[in-house]
Amino acid sequence: MIKKYSYTDKYGSFRMENPENNSYLYFPLAAESGLKSSITPLLGGDSKKDQNTFLLQPVSAEELHNLKSTRNFWCILVDGEEGINATVGLPIDAVAPSTTGAPSDTGVRAWSATGASAETESLRGTELEETSELNAGLMWHCMSRTSKKYPLCSEITSFVPNEEQCFEVMMVKVTNHSKEDVTFVPVSAIPLYARSADNIRDHRHVTSLLHRISVNQWGMEIHPTLTFDERGHKKNTMTYFVYGVEAQGQAPEACCPIVEDFLGEGGSFARPGEIYQYNETSPVWKKAGYTEDGMEAVGALRFARRTLSPGESAVYCIYMGLTQTATATQDREELINKYHNVKAVEQALTKTRQDWIDKTNVHYETGDPDFNGYMYWVTFQPILRRLFGCSFLPHHDYGKGGRGWRDLWQDCLALLIMEPDGVRDMLVDNYGGVRIDGTNATIIGQKQGEFVADRNNITRVWMDHGLWPFMTTEFYIRQTGDLGIFAEQVPYFKDRQIYRGEQKDDLWTQEQGTCQRSENGVVQGTVLEHILLQNITAFYDVGEHNHIKLRGADWNDAYDMAAENGESVTFTAAYAGNLEKLAELIRKYAKEVSETMYFQREVCILLEEHSDLYDSVEKKQAFLKQYYDSCSHMISGQLQEVNLNDLADVLQKMSDWMKEHIRKTEWVETIDGAFYNGYYDNHKRQVEGDFESGTRMNLTSQVFPMMSGTATNEQIQSIVQAADKLLYEEKKGGYKLNTNFREMKDDMGRAFGFAYGHKENGAVFSHMTVMYGNALYRRGFIKEGYKALIALYNQAADFETSRIYPGLPEYFSNKGRGMYHYLTGSASWLMMTFVTEVFGVRGEFGDLLLKPKLVDEQLDQDGCIGIRLVFSGVPVHVVYRAGTRSDVYTGVVNVRIDGKEVEGDLIDKNMLTNPEGHEITAELV
Ligand code: G1P
Repeated sequence: MIKKYSYTDKYGSFRMENPENNSYLYFPLAAESGLKSSITPLLGGDSKKDQNTFLLQPVSAEELHNLKSTRNFWCILVDGEEGINATVGLPIDAVAPSTTGAPSDTGVRAWSATGASAETESLRGTELEETSELNAGLMWHCMSRTSKKYPLCSEITSFVPNEEQCFEVMMVKVTNHSKEDVTFVPVSAIPLYARSADNIRDHRHVTSLLHRISVNQWGMEIHPTLTFDERGHKKNTMTYFVYGVEAQGQAPEACCPIVEDFLGEGGSFARPGEIYQYNETSPVWKKAGYTEDGMEAVGALRFARRTLSPGESAVYCIYMGLTQTATATQDREELINKYHNVKAVEQALTKTRQDWIDKTNVHYETGDPDFNGYMYWVTFQPILRRLFGCSFLPHHDYGKGGRGWRDLWQDCLALLIMEPDGVRDMLVDNYGGVRIDGTNATIIGQKQGEFVADRNNITRVWMDHGLWPFMTTEFYIRQTGDLGIFAEQVPYFKDRQIYRGEQKDDLWTQEQGTCQRSENGVVQGTVLEHILLQNITAFYDVGEHNHIKLRGADWNDAYDMAAENGESVTFTAAYAGNLEKLAELIRKYAKEVSETMYFQREVCILLEEHSDLYDSVEKKQAFLKQYYDSCSHMISGQLQEVNLNDLADVLQKMSDWMKEHIRKTEWVETIDGAFYNGYYDNHKRQVEGDFESGTRMNLTSQVFPMMSGTATNEQIQSIVQAADKLLYEEKKGGYKLNTNFREMKDDMGRAFGFAYGHKENGAVFSHMTVMYGNALYRRGFIKEGYKALIALYNQAADFETSRIYPGLPEYFSNKGRGMYHYLTGSASWLMMTFVTEVFGVRGEFGDLLLKPKLVDEQLDQDGCIGIRLVFSGVPVHVVYRAGTRSDVYTGVVNVRIDGKEVEGDLIDKNMLTNPEGHEITAELV
């Protein structure tokens, strides 16, 4: 494994030399204010608040090497005062008038402190190539570079302060590394885009005509008069800005706010005319009060000429951001008052760094510090996805920022471990997205618990969506013991979509709102009722082989072309797992809280036993239709009492039936081994097994039969063997999503249009590999689970192939490169798997259970391994020590909390009371 970066502390900070010599690298910077930036080694990338509010031009992965618009900072070198007049580097008659053509070699010596210049690029690979180093940690990025051609070096720190105002800070320190005095003129050059991402091609020019540009004491602002985007033409309320101060608070001297002026004819951001033909008296440099309309704009701020003695540094602080136009002047004053000098910026940086470390409150103490650093990044990734959604980093050039239903619930898993306060409300509110037919809203609003009816009336039902809410809620209940959440009352989502998306409710109008109604008004149902609806309607929604219909797709979003006849066997197994666990929790609720609960009269029919229907596809479909007929527009609002133990029995029967049916019908024997078939295509054919083109196997198809307890232990052994033979490739990150079907299966989904080995067609797709590992751990296959998870780590950490900063990407490409870094649900799952399965630190109805599943190589030299996290509101530090060394450890003895012995492996929640935290030790066996 070739590691190109090294960790510098236990909070994931790392350093790396010459990162610009790697392609596609980007790093996230963001704050709770909503500003989200991506930044590259040459300070490219972009910055935005939302889809319609981009401060810097949106970039996709390919623009990372193609776009010259970056956060640049130029130092124009002044060779001495004599004979130069107002021009730097050359006598004035040598450069003026600058009316002819491209900026030629005027002799002006200028250095880009960010490395983003045509000249610096041309020096790559020569002996004058610059040296650079990145130091970065959670939400801060610091590039240092040293020029061999010029006597200067730079250190540029970027971060987004945790402030109400949305702005990114760029703190530029320029140092004279020569033995002589150096004089230079510093100029920032940050092109502002200031509009909706939609306008990147659609009306890019026309939208620049909306710009109202002004220069003020601290820099420049753009206030576009209107916004042109999918919402139509609207009055704009945003102002975009670049301000700057010198170390001691001095304002810039002048500003050149117009791109055309700054670049000159034939110039570019890699070689701007106003830099290479610099003339202090050029009319393009404007003072406060200047305004101009209708142009592309740039934050080119010129600071006072500065002479540095050997070793001396100068610091410039640049603030780029956006604010409401109505308060822009006042906000500017406030920002500059607070960030008036370098000291204030340094304090903000320290605070920002600490804030993110405080939030990322799980620390891993295995024998490998590099692994601990990586896991710290994985733990931070769910926070990034909360802020960025599934959009807004260069690979994530789709979507408009929101997260999908599935992601919403899965990201809660990590939050339950890191930020448990508020998660209960979040879970309860999110249930408000469930429809009375058991499906759910797919457009998630801005506010928690807000769901939006689809304006375009696009009907898409993902058959796995009903599964995740209970999975997350079950985890919540086990962590906290809060069974009472079942009884919380929540409304149902309502729009035109009924009968699982197959019909439209023509009686429904937008004016009726997005809540299910009865004659008496908005219907409220318990959280348990919502969960039951999601899981039981799925049970009855079967296709020809009596497995749940695939509909729009399942977890694999790209299995989207088998809506009529496709079936997802694997997610049928997952629902079976849910129904069984739900039965268990309902029995516990019946015992500890109440034996009965009231449900909507219409729903009650679903809660009764109908085992005579289970074997018949037609009868199941007819039964479900009967239920849908009763709730297609309004429901009665009447409630009926149901005995919960009886209900649990019904759920258990459903679960048993599904599992048995899958075991009987879907276990396929091939020449390469035996495993589960997970799908039926739109031609109603089994998707996996022996084919002329070779054996077809899908990892997803194995995961849920294992996780749900459908697969027997012998079957798991067989699955592992087949997966090792057909799917495992160490150099690509381990277990791939599927074998090569060698067919553009348009009766299954667009996945098969993707090149094999990429994304949802056979890449090592982290999310499913992690779930595969998780399932193996749950079933006690520790070495096998470890093999899956460690392969992902080894791939991510092997920089020479993965080319990503620390963390887990969505998938590894066919060549092993880490793709779609940072914003992936796999991070939540990996973290949860490590905490609750590998370290085995988890809640058992509020008490703390220690059930580790470790292999010896995870321990340090002394046979120890530890983890720090917050449980039940208090910090706990768990340290395991191996008594006798063995290959695998599956449990603990001699558990002690703060030195006091505890019986067994369960620590009563009443012992976890010290707000300062607890030291827990145990011996591994
Ligand atoms: C992404 C989506 C996830 C989906 C998966 C497979 O995975 O976010 O909802 O199930 O693709 O299509 P992620 O990037 O979260 O790992």
